[in-house]
Amino acid sequence: MTSNLESLIDAEALHARVVELGAAITRDYAGKDVVLIGVLKGCILFLADLIRAIDLPISVDFLGLSSYAGTTQSTGVVRITSDLTRPIDGKHVLVVEDIVDTGLTMLYLLENLQTRNPKSIKICSLLYKPENNKIPIGIEYLGFEIPNKFVVGYGLDIDERYRNLPYLAEWKGSGAEE
Ligand code: IMP
Ligand code: MG
Repeated sequence: MTSNLESLIDAEALHARVVELGAAITRDYAGKDVVLIGVLKGCILFLADLIRAIDLPISVDFLGLSSYAGTTQSTGVVRITSDLTRPIDGKHVLVVEDIVDTGLTMLYLLENLQTRNPKSIKICSLLYKPENNKIPIGIEYLGFEIPNKFVVGYGLDIDERYRNLPYLAEWKGSGAEE
């Protein structure tokens, strides 16, 4: 692999934390009809591991959002690239995100989902970068707080690359790789 990557959270630490989050969700949502909404594409590995750590009859849906276009800076411009397959009215919704950075993407998403009349909405994010946050958003289930560095791996990408790294790494390069 390239020297532009420096390991930040290894696979064992990710797994251990995800198991803890799954146990907390299992406890809190017992007896409730909960749908986990994964935000594509960054959620893929986190969601796949998280749902295996939840011991409840959950359902899963996906929402495709795009906020960055091949850069490491938030533009604040969010676009729905694919929508949910089922209505969420009357359901307990748990949004599963890879990372909350400025919070702009999550604000947009919460406002959008709220109009669909769910019974409740909570957020589960693997990562949070407090230093860069512009919109304070309550993250009920948080994996890790990380410094204001651009990270890749475990689902997160730079210009669609490195999602398949089994660990989380800091991206030390300038922009997307050639
Ligand atoms: P926000 O709107 O600034 O909170 O950005 C949220 C979205 O930007 C996340 O869902 C990610 O898709 C992307 N993002 C933010 N920081 C990183 C990072 O360090 N690596 C990869 N993607 C990131
Ligand atoms: Mg994302």
